[in-house]
Amino acid sequence: MCDELEHCELGTKEYWDNQYKEEMKNYNNRGDVGEIWFGEDIVDRIIRWMNKENINKLNRILDIGCGNGMLLIELYNEGFKNMVGADYSENAIMLARNIALKLQCDIEFEVCNVLQENINLYNFDIVLDKGTYDAVSLSIDAKENRNKYIQNMQKMLKPSGMLILTSCNWTKEELITQFESCFKLKESIPTPEFKFGGKVGNVVTSVVFVRE
Ligand SMILES: C[S@@+](CC[C@H](N)C(=O)[O-])C[C@H]1O[C@@H](n2cnc3c(N)ncnc32)[C@H](O)[C@@H]1O
Repeated sequence: MCDELEHCELGTKEYWDNQYKEEMKNYNNRGDVGEIWFGEDIVDRIIRWMNKENINKLNRILDIGCGNGMLLIELYNEGFKNMVGADYSENAIMLARNIALKLQCDIEFEVCNVLQENINLYNFDIVLDKGTYDAVSLSIDAKENRNKYIQNMQKMLKPSGMLILTSCNWTKEELITQFESCFKLKESIPTPEFKFGGKVGNVVTSVVFVRE
């Protein structure tokens, strides 16, 4: 059980289409790749964790809601070579493809809504999500959509496959409860802590779930 978040524009496709249209313009004009959600530090922490775990560089990896694709580009530079980026915004996929092409990174990108029926992306060893479950949680009908997301995540991952999920809207405990029907917590990736009113809390949560 959890309280739903209040829906807002970040939960709409229109918002992301406009966002990436703007980012595409900036990329064409100035070579600016756009927003790195939650900052470079989180990207480094995810990569450090994957290296610590000795994840096979040929593992099939999906970044769901990949945006500009920069997480996959960083992973490509670390030696991961079997990766797909998916996003429901056509503009995001166009931007990601252009950046990857320019940087000579051989990464597949495709348009896909993580909530769609008959999901056609499957058999992944690892799925990465940095901010996409957050966006789904801010949509209208969020509860239904969150459940759909979890069902599709189960379909996309191989048995014992891992979901590495980074969120700024949910705590580790809330995520464990929401995913418990088919995912077990393997580890949480340490994220920077901040102190507010004498209480220590995390701004961003990064968890690794294993598909049961
Ligand atoms: C906060 S942004 C994060 C982008 C990228 N992961 C990053 O870390 O820079 C959320 C992303 O999720 C995508 N998204 C939201 N809902 C989606 C859905 N139902 N299916 C696929 N992508 C979705 C948005 O288009 C956007 O690119």
